[in-house]
Amino acid sequence: MGASIIDGKRIADGIRAEVRIRVERLAARGTVHGLTAVLVGDNPASQLYVRMKGKACEEMGLAHWTITLPADISWPRLREEIGKLNADPKVHGILVQQPLPPQMPVADVVAAVDPRKDVDCFHPENVGLVLIGTPRFAPATPAGVVELLLRSGNDPGGKDVVIVGRSNIVGKPLAALLVQKARGANATVTVAHSGTRDLAAHTRRADILVSAMGSPRTITADMVRDGAVVIDVGTSRVPDPTMKQGYRTVGDVDFEPVKAKARAITPVPGGVGPMTIAMLLSNTVQAAESAEGVPRT
Ligand SMILES: NC(=O)c1ccc[n+]([C@@H]2O[C@H](COP(=O)([O-])OP(=O)(O)OC[C@H]3O[C@@H](n4cnc5c(N)ncnc54)[C@H](OP(=O)(O)O)[C@@H]3O)[C@@H](O)[C@H]2O)c1
Repeated sequence: MGASIIDGKRIADGIRAEVRIRVERLAARGTVHGLTAVLVGDNPASQLYVRMKGKACEEMGLAHWTITLPADISWPRLREEIGKLNADPKVHGILVQQPLPPQMPVADVVAAVDPRKDVDCFHPENVGLVLIGTPRFAPATPAGVVELLLRSGNDPGGKDVVIVGRSNIVGKPLAALLVQKARGANATVTVAHSGTRDLAAHTRRADILVSAMGSPRTITADMVRDGAVVIDVGTSRVPDPTMKQGYRTVGDVDFEPVKAKARAITPVPGGVGPMTIAMLLSNTVQAAESAEGVPRT
């Protein structure tokens, strides 16, 4: 049996169309709504992600700004910049692109962003709201995974979901979303990580397997149950001299052999990535609606 491909770009386009309607409604009020990205240092992947997010804002009719700061900036100076953005009424969303240089206290940086503008949903207050089931914002990548499942007809309710990876930005918040007693959730969730004994024994049990390791082609066909739904969050660059840029972007999943066994699978690229950006746009509009007292949609 060959899996169907879950087309993240098409599903993300549907979400963007919904976002656009909300942006137009806000624009009719005559105020500027936008997102500011803070980029510390010159990591090329981070620069690319920030450009992609900016372009996505433009396509939605949202304003966007990028503040580029040197890699050796001190934490007090960065805190000052974040403070200015917190106070700026035009800025509804603030994202501080990670990874940050090693001298930065990441937890303090995340906590310095006004939680009402924290469209990445990284602030401890927003993480807590997700955990108790009353989110202010959807954590972008995990919520993108949930939307991919729902909009491809794979409701996780009652299913055994195995998540590989326990980071604060993917694995843990995804587990928090899927375990809620709520529509589009209600799953039985296992979270695996590098300390898991016999990873394959867990992944083979999964009705829905979500991999978020950042370890290229590590989920092999023998680790996947027949007819499973496989969501690949991982994005890694592997050298490939046949590509113009000298590398290829691949996921955690050994795509072709796993596709032959699964029922549905996301590609990399074109799976979770476009959903993350769509959810970020949705959160930015959400922040603007809240700031202007527009009822939540
Ligand atoms: N497509 C998107 O929009 C999007 C968004 C975010 C992230 N990503 C990608 O998703 C991947 C994960 O990102 P992240 O920020 O969550 O990464 P991370 O912070 O490095 O976390 C990786 C997690 O995977 C676990 N892990 C790594 N290798 C493993 C192995 N061989 N067996 C079992 N567990 C293993 C780690 O375990 P320990 O905790 O024990 O170390 C950790 O919990 C990366 O490739 C990233 O680029 C994509």
